[in-house]
Amino acid sequence: IFSQVTLAPADPILGLTDAFKADARPHKVNLGVGIYKDEAGQTPILSSVKKAEAILLETEKTKNYLGIEGVQAYNQVVQDLLFGPQSNIIANKRAVTAQAPGGTGSLRVASEFLVRNTRSTTIWVSNPTWANHKNIFETAGLTVKEYRYYKAETHDMDFDAMLADLANANAGDVILLHGCCHNPTGIDLSIEQWKQVANICVEKSLLPLFDFAYQGFGAGIEEDAQGLRAVASVVPELLIANSFSKNFGLYNERIGAVTIVAENQDDAVRSFSQIKKNIRANYSNPPAHGGLIVSTILSDKALRQEWEAELTLMRERIADMRSLFVESLKAEGVKQDFSFISRQNGMFSFSGLNKSQVARLKDEFAIYIVGSGRISVAGLTKNNMPAVCKAIAQVI
Ligand code: LMR
Repeated sequence: IFSQVTLAPADPILGLTDAFKADARPHKVNLGVGIYKDEAGQTPILSSVKKAEAILLETEKTKNYLGIEGVQAYNQVVQDLLFGPQSNIIANKRAVTAQAPGGTGSLRVASEFLVRNTRSTTIWVSNPTWANHKNIFETAGLTVKEYRYYKAETHDMDFDAMLADLANANAGDVILLHGCCHNPTGIDLSIEQWKQVANICVEKSLLPLFDFAYQGFGAGIEEDAQGLRAVASVVPELLIANSFSKNFGLYNERIGAVTIVAENQDDAVRSFSQIKKNIRANYSNPPAHGGLIVSTILSDKALRQEWEAELTLMRERIADMRSLFVESLKAEGVKQDFSFISRQNGMFSFSGLNKSQVARLKDEFAIYIVGSGRISVAGLTKNNMPAVCKAIAQVI
């Protein structure tokens, strides 16, 4: 039976990490996967997380199963972060949240819920989008279509094209939206554009699905939720898959959540029952540790402040790296204008480097970036910057 199995291609992002690990060159630099590095090139555990873990070590009394929906206090703090604690959506019990394994697990649970329980069978994703989106949605049984999002010539948003493509969507189609820090382009909608997209969703009965993996990496925790909140204030129904891999540095704890906002509490309750049925069939109930860490931090004033300060430091360091990147490329004699890098948000920069330039960076200089030209700016440091910029100057 197994002799018939074909070899799957390496994952475009995580496969790159495997190749990086196997590379023996000591000067190698991994700017592929989106992982935050500090100035020393490390990805340390946040101090707020360590403190929460110390509290859990002392206070946890059992490793009994969680409910299918996960840690209840966690699901509540997730809603507060998404909508703001004063939100009517929360007060009217229109939102239901289940803890899920990371952003990927949350997107998968959301997709399977749609396929099994609704008439929504088509999802529109931005072109370009995160390399794993199509894989998740198609595996769950959704048909994937693309809307234009990015204008390569100007390294900017192509909002008119996005609107033109969304005009072709049918009632009930799902529209995947990146809540902030669009992956891979780093280009986000303005608040006015969010409102326009929200109106189109209402007019055409489209269902927004937010992938919200970088809250706090753009402009701030509240600021980065403005697009989601603008949409949620007008559309009757939406889904959100959020992740704490990046903003809590909890990558390997696989901690995220899937949230449904329904038109009323009844719809929410029935939808949640199906989400739980789906989770039970997938992994029964989620692992506890990540959810307990996040809920411990967010329900303790001092720990929350500490986390917010740590998040601010991460965001500011990435912004510094963006400016330094632009300056250093110039200093290396690169004539091409890379100032757009400073205008992008979040961990990534969509550099415009082509496939052969990306391949040369890897083969000749041991610098790993994603094949689409996406560079993880969060992996740049003052130490690796000169080598990276020299190599880019060579390949262009
Ligand atoms: C990325 O885009 O690099 C991250 O979201 C990590 C991943 O799982 O791909």
